[in-house]
Order: sequence, then structure tokens, then C-alpha cells
Amino acid sequence: MNSFAGPVGGAAPIIADKAPMIDPFGRAVTYLRVSVTDRCDFRCTYCMAENMTFLPKKDLLTLEELNRLCSAFISKGVRKIRLTGGEPLVRKNIMFLVRELGQHVKAGTLDELTLTTNGSQLAKYADELYDSGVRRINVSLDTLNPEKFKAITRWGDYHKVMEGIDAAQKAGLKIKLNAVALKDFNEFEIADMLRFAHGRGMDMTVIETMPMGEIDEDRTDQYLPLSKLRADLEEQFTLTEIPYKTGGPARYVEVQETGGRLGFITPMTHNFCESCNRVRLTCTGTLYMCLGQNDAADLRTALRASENDGYLSAAIDEAITRKPKGHDFIIDRTHKRPAVARHMSVTGG
Ligand code: 5AD
Ligand code: SF4
Repeated sequence: MNSFAGPVGGAAPIIADKAPMIDPFGRAVTYLRVSVTDRCDFRCTYCMAENMTFLPKKDLLTLEELNRLCSAFISKGVRKIRLTGGEPLVRKNIMFLVRELGQHVKAGTLDELTLTTNGSQLAKYADELYDSGVRRINVSLDTLNPEKFKAITRWGDYHKVMEGIDAAQKAGLKIKLNAVALKDFNEFEIADMLRFAHGRGMDMTVIETMPMGEIDEDRTDQYLPLSKLRADLEEQFTLTEIPYKTGGPARYVEVQETGGRLGFITPMTHNFCESCNRVRLTCTGTLYMCLGQNDAADLRTALRASENDGYLSAAIDEAITRKPKGHDFIIDRTHKRPAVARHMSVTGG
């Protein structure tokens, strides 16, 4: 990690720009993902070990500090913010941050505020999310079978998640279901999940598992290339490529039989980094310029160096100059170690 040096005499630099941040490869950075906590009330087997060591609470930025950081990014051209985790809705008083950021949506300085959640707390928060200005959310769901759900999440309760999905739809939130494609687990269930999602007006995306962080299992046993999944689906469904884009790495098809959309996120079999528009902030104020690389910038020091955002703005600019071209994920029998040591729950996918 490259630490920000802090004040070196003289006045803090002045924030001059509202133009989008442009990285060395000409990509505009307009999307900020914020992992508000590395904790989670589930322990999905492909994501975490059962026995996880989490960050000490004292290392966390306060929600006020996270708000200040997000606002700095907005003033530098970020148009979309996604709150992730861990599970974002288990962070204490998280609705404070949601409401604050929602003000930017209402003021037109942010196009979208959204979140990725495991759904466990949605029944409680759905209405408040909608009132704060959230309109779409991603819910992670890997199976529709309650026993299998327990097996994959270790600690999760399927029925609570279903209640959460019901409540979110009732509140007016549009949902996209995200499923990680796992060999011998949900490989042959994706068709049913698709019918379920599309039958309830939800889009769905399948994701290849990525080698991030130590887990208790062997990733080569879990890895299912989406090319295989897609070929299987095409025996039952007519999939037509469509140009639909949500600003993310998913490539979409329309499913003729259901009338819904299905997205494929294929970090392993098809690299999508050319169009990357995002950076990732952790709950300790570390900025990762790429999901699949270790390089990071410490924004907490700059944030705390001054009440004025000058140092922070300079530290963000410096970080963007280090945004790499892409990731180097590989899963095979000769690569036993994860490509990056940190878990997905640190940066939130
Ligand atoms: N590879 C792919 N997806 C993962 N997720 C968590 N860990 C991994 C991994 N190693 C998914 C979750 C959730 C999203 C935030 O990332 O299931 O949908
Ligand atoms: Fe929690 Fe999501 Fe990781 Fe599952 S995948 S343990 S829900 S952070």
C-alpha cells in the first residue's frame, strides 16, 4: 500500500475540478463501490472461511467519514455509488449513510445510489431504502432450495431472504438477483432460478467464482465456466444477445421463453477490464483501483489530515493515476493460492 504523505507545509491544494477522473488508459471513473463493513451474517463457502477474523472496530471509518469520502468522489465526477460489504445492512446505523447519500440523488448530483445485499435484513429496511432514494438493489441468491441455501451460506435463513425480497418489491425497489455459478451445487438449478426471477419481474446475473481470499474449500472444485452453463441453458431456452448495459461487466441476453434478461459476468473466461469505470473503497478508507490487484491507496490519512478536502482530493487524483489495466485471475490446479489475498467481502465484489 502506498501511504499518503500528509501535510507538507503550505496551504492544502484546492479542489478545482468537477470533470470526470480519467485513468491512464483513458477510462472515466464514474462509479464508486463502497464496502461499508467487512462483516456479514452469512458465511458463504466460496466467499469466507467459517472462522473469519474481521477488522477491529476501531479501524473503521465512521459513517460521517464515509459520507465525506463519498461526497468528495461525487464532487470529482462519480455518478453512481453502490454500498456493499460484507453485508452492508448489518453495519450499525447504516441508514444514516444511505439517507445522506440519497440527498445527492434527490439533488441530481448523483445518478444512482444502490446496494448489494444478501437480503437478510431487507424486510426491515426496504421502505426506508426506497424513501431515501434507492430504486434498484442487487440481491445475492445462489439457490432456491432452503437446505442447499443453508449449506452454501452456512448461517443464512432462506425464508428471511424470501421475506426480504417480497418486502423490497412491495416497497417499489427493482431487484436483480446475483447467483455465483458453482459446479455440482447450482449448476442445474439456474434454469429454475431464471424462471423464478423472470416470473417476478427481476433480472438475473450469473457470476463466475473468483479466486479471492483463503476459504475452507478448493476453488477448483467450485469453479464452473459460464460457457458451460450457457450451453446447458441453451438446451432449454432461446438466448439472444442484446446490447443492454448497466455500466457493469455483465453481458446480457434476452431469454425468449421468459421475456426476461440474463447477465453473464465472466471475469475468468472473458476479461472485461477494457471498459472498467469503477474504483472500490473499503470501510477503513483504503481505495482499491482494481478488484483483482493488490495495489491500493490510503485515503484515511488524507481525510483525517485536514477538515478541508484538498489533501483528500489530491490523494484521490494520485490513486487514479495508478489504476491498472486489468486483473490476472486464474483458477487451475497449479494456482493453489488466491490471486489476491483479501476476501471479496473487503471490497464487496
Ligand atoms: N467469486 C465470485 N463472486 C463472489 N461473491 C463473493 N465472493 C465471491 C467470489 N470469490 C459474490 C457474492 C455477491 C457478490 C457481492 O459477490 O455472492 O453476489
Ligand atoms: Fe456474506 Fe455475501 Fe460473502 Fe455470502 S457472499 S458471506 S452473503 S458477503
